[in-house]
Amino acid sequence: MCRFLLIVAASFGVSTLTVPVAQAQDLTIANAASIARGGQIYDKWWKVLGNPEPTETHAAYPADSAKDGSATWRCKECHGWDYIGPNGRYSSGSHFTGITGIEGMAGGDTAAITAAIRGGSHGFTSDMIDDAAMADLALFVSQGQYDITAYVTDGASTGDPVVGEAAYATICAGCHGDDGMKIKEMPPMGELSGNPQEMIHKIINGQPTESMPAMRIFGPQLAADITAYVATLPQ
Ligand code: HEC
Ligand code: HEC
Repeated sequence: MCRFLLIVAASFGVSTLTVPVAQAQDLTIANAASIARGGQIYDKWWKVLGNPEPTETHAAYPADSAKDGSATWRCKECHGWDYIGPNGRYSSGSHFTGITGIEGMAGGDTAAITAAIRGGSHGFTSDMIDDAAMADLALFVSQGQYDITAYVTDGASTGDPVVGEAAYATICAGCHGDDGMKIKEMPPMGELSGNPQEMIHKIINGQPTESMPAMRIFGPQLAADITAYVATLPQ
């Protein structure tokens, strides 16, 4: 929408100096850093915030599901890397809980989202997630979601690996190596591409407490393209 308006404006000779102002009106661009931080909090809040890792199993985590302990306190564990809970990757297997996704809150009021996360069976106190972090997290839930079905089909990215190769070589390879094996503390990148939903989330929001950039401003299509290329790397 903004780009279309700018093209129209440019054709009438209006100065291109209006670009930053027009972009700032786009909530997701103006708040990209906050939303990306929210995405990392969704991934593993206690690591991002430097708070104690929970030891008990979360009270809302189903007794007959497979996980226990701190894993059950991660937003992603109950709601999915793809945000659609039982309708997505966690529809079966060791991460299945049957708990609803958060897609119903996409575009939602951040005060209502905050109330949902603080209250009810959730019980995320301000000692766990402080108010500033909660603002980022609620903005992520409201403005940071994308429709994963547009980028992943049958467990694989539908992105363009040719575009992805160029992006990987110029953005990722310096840290991760051309073959995706340079960082020894993590599995080979090619192996991680088996979970494209997680890969796309991490490319867009970054990795908690690591130097890895958040690519949110470039959008989910480029993240899907990179993920499609990464699937060709050695496992
Ligand atoms: C142990 C499982 C569990 C964890 C962890 C969890 N949730 Fe939930 N969440 C639920 C359940 C269950 C619901 C369904 C509503 C209810 O019963 O409270 C829910 C509902 C929601 C909703 C409302 C969805 C809707 O459409 O009404 C949002 C938003 C949400 N969670 C966000 C989060 C965020 C953000 C985190 C991480 C801080 C989180 N949840 C962690 C279990 C969990
Ligand atoms: C500035 C360096 C840097 C850049 C650039 C970077 N990363 Fe990372 N990335 C890291 C570090 C450090 C980690 C954490 C590794 C670990 O687990 O110890 C990481 C972690 C990851 C993980 C999660 C690994 C896991 O164990 O779950 C993925 C996926 C990933 N990077 C993909 C990418 C992709 C794709 C790109 C390019 C878009 C990229 N990274 C760019 C440094 C970087």
